[in-house]
Amino acid sequence: MNIHHVVGARPNFMKLAPVYRALSECDGIRQTLVHTGQHYDFNMSDVFFQQLGLPAPDINLQVGSGSHAQQTAQIISRFEPIVADHKPDLVLVYGDVNSTVAAALVCAKLHVPVGHVEAGLRSFDRTMPEEINRVVTDQISDLLFTPSSDGNDNLAREGVAAEKVHLVGNVMIDTLVEMLPRAAELAATNAPSRYALVTLHRPSNVDDVVWLEQVLRELSEISAELPVLFPVHPRTRQRLNSAALNARGCRLHLMDPLPYLDFLALLTRATVVITDSGGIQEETTFLGIPCLTVRENTERPITAEMGTNILVGRSIPHIRREVQKVLSGESKAGKIPPLWDGHAAERIVKVLAGTRVMALQAGRAQ
Ligand code: UD1
Repeated sequence: MNIHHVVGARPNFMKLAPVYRALSECDGIRQTLVHTGQHYDFNMSDVFFQQLGLPAPDINLQVGSGSHAQQTAQIISRFEPIVADHKPDLVLVYGDVNSTVAAALVCAKLHVPVGHVEAGLRSFDRTMPEEINRVVTDQISDLLFTPSSDGNDNLAREGVAAEKVHLVGNVMIDTLVEMLPRAAELAATNAPSRYALVTLHRPSNVDDVVWLEQVLRELSEISAELPVLFPVHPRTRQRLNSAALNARGCRLHLMDPLPYLDFLALLTRATVVITDSGGIQEETTFLGIPCLTVRENTERPITAEMGTNILVGRSIPHIRREVQKVLSGESKAGKIPPLWDGHAAERIVKVLAGTRVMALQAGRAQ
């Protein structure tokens, strides 16, 4: 069986790693790794491949940056001849980035079966580019692997046939579980004993300069009581530079994006995490670390319902209140959601082993 994996952006790599490894242990599977090049900086891409033990991609489409239309169109036009030539039996796509939807579209048009890892998540906010990517990818995928049962409910509501949907758990947590011992070995010698860890990169937070400035000012206030460590995403760095928001006068420790293990080492020891990332909401829930999500909604509601996540929205007083609670020892307790146990990739492989890909192809051709 010839399986192609398509990844492109930083959060895809942690999801790919356990699936790639689990499939490597199966007989009769040939894997091809396609990197779209959506993320291309060493510290946004290559270092993740190194730390996660992934081989270098077999193919790099080198699409780089651009508007959503440009990026998506470039991936489609560069991936199509590869699929036409290689004729994979199955293409696996991950998460919700532009690379995910672009690759799924190519396959759907060429009648090649697609499996979507991390299917069914919904924020119900179609101003988010990722939500569009999720909805479209799920509609045209043949196998949908969900991390939590809310994903199954969302897909049922959208008319996706139940037999395509498999609740397997969270592959991002597979990687976390695998890498935790190595992260623990990384002595965070430079890190203070208590600190807030911050990541922000969503357009809703960083493209609005007035809001971004308010957030930076609040983080600076927080840093009077609790050091603030802030690895800055390239998108955020561009906004800070172009708006001359160099956090001047702020006591924030701004740093370049961190490799996976280094970030994990900081995450495991953080007093509180302030973020707009999707994956970090899940990782903090697993680790039991208080997480304040600077968004009005989340496609991962289970992290707020069961886990340590709190949606603070675009509200400075809410952020301040929740940080104060954490500082006074009143942080929210949480539980780990079912099937977030480090074995999601094995469940995906089991489903693939039981799926007759020829049957999927026949379904496509009808
Ligand atoms: C993308 C994903 C988002 C994911 C995030 C994680 C989409 C729509 N968004 O957002 O879901 O949470 O990745 O990082 O696919 N840039 C660099 N170096 C890089 C990569 C990007 O400088 O290695 C710059 C680009 O020039 C671009 C900006 O960062 O202007 C944003 O990159 P882009 O790939 O468009 O989306 P992200 O904001 O990273």
